[in-house]
Amino acid sequence: MKLPVLGETIAYMRSPVDWARDRYDRFGAVSSVPMFGVRMTVALGPDATEEVLLNRDKAFSNGGGWERFIGPFFHRGLLLLDFDEHLHHRRIMQQAFLPARLSAYRARMTPAIPRELASWPVNAQFKVYPAVREMVFNLTSEVLTGSGLGAEADEVNRLFEACLRASTGIVRFRAPGLSWSRGLAARRHLETIFGAWVASRRASGGPADNVLSMLCEAATDEGDQFTGADVVNHMILLLLAARDTSTITLSTMIYYLGQNPSWQQRCREDGAAVELVRKEVLRLAPPLPHLVRRVVRPTSVLGHPLAVGTYVQTIPQFNHHMHELWTNPLAFDPLRFSESRAEDKVHRYAWIPFGGGVHKCIGMHFAGMVVDAVMHQLLERFEWSVEAGYEMPWNRRGLPFPADGLPVRLTSRHKSHGIPAAH
Ligand code: HEM
Repeated sequence: MKLPVLGETIAYMRSPVDWARDRYDRFGAVSSVPMFGVRMTVALGPDATEEVLLNRDKAFSNGGGWERFIGPFFHRGLLLLDFDEHLHHRRIMQQAFLPARLSAYRARMTPAIPRELASWPVNAQFKVYPAVREMVFNLTSEVLTGSGLGAEADEVNRLFEACLRASTGIVRFRAPGLSWSRGLAARRHLETIFGAWVASRRASGGPADNVLSMLCEAATDEGDQFTGADVVNHMILLLLAARDTSTITLSTMIYYLGQNPSWQQRCREDGAAVELVRKEVLRLAPPLPHLVRRVVRPTSVLGHPLAVGTYVQTIPQFNHHMHELWTNPLAFDPLRFSESRAEDKVHRYAWIPFGGGVHKCIGMHFAGMVVDAVMHQLLERFEWSVEAGYEMPWNRRGLPFPADGLPVRLTSRHKSHGIPAAH
């Protein structure tokens, strides 16, 4: 029996790709289904995804779509703004993601990585996912907020987790209750903390090696700047957008490299191999498996009319697994991204872990920088493996993550690295 409110939600969350394949085969690229508490139009495959994400007639709203799923906790972050206002904010924010800025962030972050890795135990089963998450949270906090990881950074993490818990859950739509009101209180508290940081950063300046300072300073050629409230709203969404996504990418890379020692060694010898592996992992397990929009003016997708108010979901993870686009799509095969094969070039919307159109991830290169910097040091210090036959189970209640913490076995490549596990 299906609950009317949940509809297909559970089946979808169990296996988004199988669910989407079944719908695609039975109903084609565009169909409508009750899920996540609404009647959802699913737009499947690269052509339908392209129409939605390119949004040529400005019919699809990001704010209207995402607000239902991540609630008011990430209010007025860039992802939730639309059309001219979004463009205006994006132009200012872009200043914080220019290549010169990324180099400064990398310089600030890199020395902290060995400190983080020093406590990872060697020669024993070790749940690596929680350790990666903590490390990425610490590293990105430092570069996003420039807070120097004091006691306030812990408080920010705690409040942020409360927002996250409130905004995700088995039924991901408005469900006012205890965690909802805790989330709202946490959001208000975060606004106060960030508001004070912005005021002090604006009064006394600060080093140009963190995103918060950059957002305080950033201006367009016409001299437009963010208000204090804008900076606060953007920072809170950036914490959401940057951290679990990078954590998942790194963890999935560790998983596949643990299963494939020859690729692990190849990455150690050749930086280009790391990029192929990163792309392949983002294909197999995109941290944002689906994207959501809401129709704000009558439109259509591949000729299917859509009324105002309709929710529309695209599923990049399905495009990434279509046998119409990829050879043997379930296999880990980084060379499919090599110049000679270039399977991702078969369609502009075949490989879209960072989305497409005007809302395409603004932090794409930042993410690459974090992932590569950490992976470089991991490969340098450790060799690792997963148990023979191990398959990582996914928890898909919020952003997907390894349900069992991803047990791996690390060995040190240098005598002085890593803490031998206690027996
Ligand atoms: C591997 C890591 C990441 C992945 C897979 C990823 C994926 C995405 C995707 C798919 C979107 C588009 C959402 C939509 O169209 O509805 C997006 C937007 C966004 N991402 Fe990322 N992201 C990652 C890392 C980051 C990082 C590190 C940052 C910031 C430092 C960031 C900041 C943002 C922001 C602000 C947006 C909204 C852009 C806009 O609406 O104009 N992301 N991301």
